[in-house]
Amino acid sequence: MNHIPVAIIGAGPAGLTLAHLLHLQGIESIVFEKRTRKEVEETVRAGILEQGTLNLMRETGVGARMEAEADHDEAIDISINGERIRIPLTEITGHKVAIYPQHEYLKDFIAKRLEDGGELLFSTTVDAVEGTGGTGGFDNDKVKVVYTEADGSSTTISADYVIAADGSSSPYRKIITEGSGVRVRHEYPYAWFGILVEAAKTQKELIYATHPEGFALISTRTDTVQRYYLQCDPNDTPDMWSDDRIWEQLHLRADSPGITVSEGKIFDKAVLRFRSAVTEPMQKGRLFLAGDAAHTVPPTGAKGLNLAVADVSVLAPGLVRALKKKDSALLDDYTKLALPRVWKAQHFSYWMSSMLHAVPDEDYFATQRRFAELHSVLGSEAGQRYIAEQYVGRDLPRFEV
Ligand code: PHB
Repeated sequence: MNHIPVAIIGAGPAGLTLAHLLHLQGIESIVFEKRTRKEVEETVRAGILEQGTLNLMRETGVGARMEAEADHDEAIDISINGERIRIPLTEITGHKVAIYPQHEYLKDFIAKRLEDGGELLFSTTVDAVEGTGGTGGFDNDKVKVVYTEADGSSTTISADYVIAADGSSSPYRKIITEGSGVRVRHEYPYAWFGILVEAAKTQKELIYATHPEGFALISTRTDTVQRYYLQCDPNDTPDMWSDDRIWEQLHLRADSPGITVSEGKIFDKAVLRFRSAVTEPMQKGRLFLAGDAAHTVPPTGAKGLNLAVADVSVLAPGLVRALKKKDSALLDDYTKLALPRVWKAQHFSYWMSSMLHAVPDEDYFATQRRFAELHSVLGSEAGQRYIAEQYVGRDLPRFEV
C-alpha cells in the first residue's frame, strides 16, 4: 500500500490552498476531487478576497494574475432606499479587498499545483476513509483511503492525516459529530437570485442595496461582464424571473442619485442557497474538516472563501509541525484556534443579512427599524469602522513551523 503524509478530499479553496502551503514546507499531499477540472474551474461562485487572502496569494507565489486582473477596491457603498452611503474601507483600515471570483482563485491554485508536480486527481471519488485504530477510531498511526479514478481503477493508500475539504455536504462530518460533536444550522427566509450580464460596470465599487422590497447587490466580473444579485424566495426558480422583472427590481432596489444599474444581455441565472452552519469540533484524531465542510456562511459578508483560507492557515503549520517535528500541539488546538473566527464571521454575515434583507411580508415597522439600524451604524464613525474592519477581515493566523 502506498503511503502519503496528507490526503485532502476536495479541490476547493481549502483543499488547494492547503496542498500548496504544505508543498512550500516540503510536505507531500494528494488531492481528490470528484468533479472534472473543467467543472471546478467553471462553477460560478462569489468573489471577494480579504486583505489577508490577497497577501497569502502574493507571498506564496500565486498572486500574479490576481494582481493584474482583479479589481482592487478601497470602498463599498451601501444604498438604503435610494440613499447611497460610502464606507471608505482603505481610509479606515489601511486595507483593500479584491473582487476575484472563487473559480479564478481555484484556476490559479490548480495551475500552480500541477506546475509544482503535485498529485491532483480530478474525476476521482473517495469510497472510504477508515481509521485503523482498534475501535474504528482515527487515533491510531494511519488512516486508510480508498478511491476510484475516472478509468474505474480502485486504489487504497494510507495517510498520516486526512483533511475533508469537500464542501457543505461533506459525508465525513458525521464521523466527527457522531460521538460528542454538534452540527448547528440556521436557515434564512430568503435566498439570492444571481445573474451574469454583458454590460459595462455600474460603478467600480460594490453596491449593497436595500429597499422595502428587499436586497440587491451590484458586483462585477470584468469591464464587460457584471454580476448582480436580487433577494428572492428560497423556493424561487430562475424561470420565475423574467428579464423585465429582473431589471425592474434591480432599478427599484439599487438605483440612487447619479447611479443607474447598467443593463445588458443576461446570460446566466441561478438561485443561491442561503444558510449558516457550524460543526464543532472540526477534528477527530487524524481527521480534520476545513472550509465549507466544517462551516457555511451566507454570502452577504463575503467571508466564505476567506474562512477556508483562515482554516488552512492553522492546519498547514499544524500538520508541518506534527509531521516534521512530531509535535502535534498546534494540530490538537486546531478547533480552538479556528472556531472563534468562524463564529465572528457567522455573526457578521448574519447581521449584515438581517439589516439588508426584507423578511417575507415585512411590515412598515420592521422596514423602518432596519433602515434606522443601517443609518445609525453608518452615521457613526465607530459604526463605519466596525463594518470596514469586519469586511476587510482580520489578518490570517500565522504560526512558525
Ligand atoms: C460577488 O461578486 O459574487 C459577490 C460580492 C460580494 C458578496 C457576495 C458575492 O458579498
